[in-house]
Amino acid sequence: MLKGKKILLGVTGSIAAYKAALLVRALIKEGAEVKVIMTEAAKSFISPLTLATLSKHPVSVDLFKEDTWANHVMLGRWADIMLVAPLSCNTLSKMAAGLCDNLLLAVYLSATCPVMLVPAMDEDMWKHPATRKNMETLVSHGNIIVPVENGELASGLFGEGRMAEPETIIAALSRQGKNEGRLNGKKALVTAGPTYEHIDPVRFIGNHSSGKMGVAIARELFQCGAEVTLVLGPVSDTFVLDGLKVVHVQSAEEMFYACNRAFEKTDIAVMAAAVADYTPAVVAPEKIKKKEESWQMTLKKTPDILKSLGQKKTGKQLLVGFALETNNERENALSKLQQKNADIMVLNSLRDSGAGFGTDTNKVSVFDRNGGEKYFDLKSKAGVAKDIVDYIIEYIHV
Ligand code: CTP
Repeated sequence: MLKGKKILLGVTGSIAAYKAALLVRALIKEGAEVKVIMTEAAKSFISPLTLATLSKHPVSVDLFKEDTWANHVMLGRWADIMLVAPLSCNTLSKMAAGLCDNLLLAVYLSATCPVMLVPAMDEDMWKHPATRKNMETLVSHGNIIVPVENGELASGLFGEGRMAEPETIIAALSRQGKNEGRLNGKKALVTAGPTYEHIDPVRFIGNHSSGKMGVAIARELFQCGAEVTLVLGPVSDTFVLDGLKVVHVQSAEEMFYACNRAFEKTDIAVMAAAVADYTPAVVAPEKIKKKEESWQMTLKKTPDILKSLGQKKTGKQLLVGFALETNNERENALSKLQQKNADIMVLNSLRDSGAGFGTDTNKVSVFDRNGGEKYFDLKSKAGVAKDIVDYIIEYIHV
């Protein structure tokens, strides 16, 4: 897939810079041609000699030195894609601000090729509002982001901020451009996250859905050119949602109305939200006081959003549902496909470790109403989103 691709790799000062050696080796093995630029800080983490030897090209660090000036414009023009991995918090903020105090930034600002960014930093830095804002800016500037992963960080803490593994980066590069523009002119509707069903002003019934899967699908549909409306339940994570039209909802009923309003103009609907099946029959106007030893509450069914859209769907609209199962997975997914009149059903089995709620990874199988079936490996949710969107694109272009 990467044979003959010219990749300009920017390496910045993060502990994850040691992975740049593995990345360069893997890229060369894939048949890519690699040139490396480093920041001064990156040299403290990995030597230019290592990367020059592995890439078979001299490594550039300085914008100018004595009487030589590095032609940053030509480096940017040479590349088919500029990849910055790892992208430190410092360089990330400079890129967002348009600062230009080293060669890597000069190349970035003058690059005419697509730019893929692979951030790596401590979780608190990653979640800081300044970093969130900078990420939104970088997405709005058209950069492609390979999301951070969850795991052990250099600080010894566990959390979000780890640089994506080289194989994830290579998968992202291989897919780059494959489906670009294929959904131009299409309108997509995606639901994500849980719903909260209010019991009283302070309590609710909810679930552990993080919204990560649905958000990843919305972003992937957007990357392929679709105009995307994301109906998002109450999630605790902050997401980069630039380019998406976001409708925030709380309850299943609110999600139902938001989806039904948008559906008429929708070409592709993906219902990835974990909608509560039941809601309190009555919402208490004041906080319920604890009195009795035991307490019973009457619940009523929520509207089934997917099913309602399945009933109104025209032949030109594509409807994708999710089935979360713990047993008889294939059978249950196929029956949901029929019962809800969906075109495609994505199955999540909670029996697969690393799949389902709360994780950064997922493992899915996909079934369609023409009898198609596909089983995917465990991947990052961004990787799974790409698989699902690829499946959708193949399905509608048959
Ligand atoms: N769904 C929906 N509205 C609901 C419940 C579910 O639109 N009130 C959608 C989900 O977004 C998902 C699909 O239906 O795309 C299947 O959800 P799932 O929870 O697996 O199944 P349920 O229909 O709720 O059935 P059960 O809980 O009995 O498995």
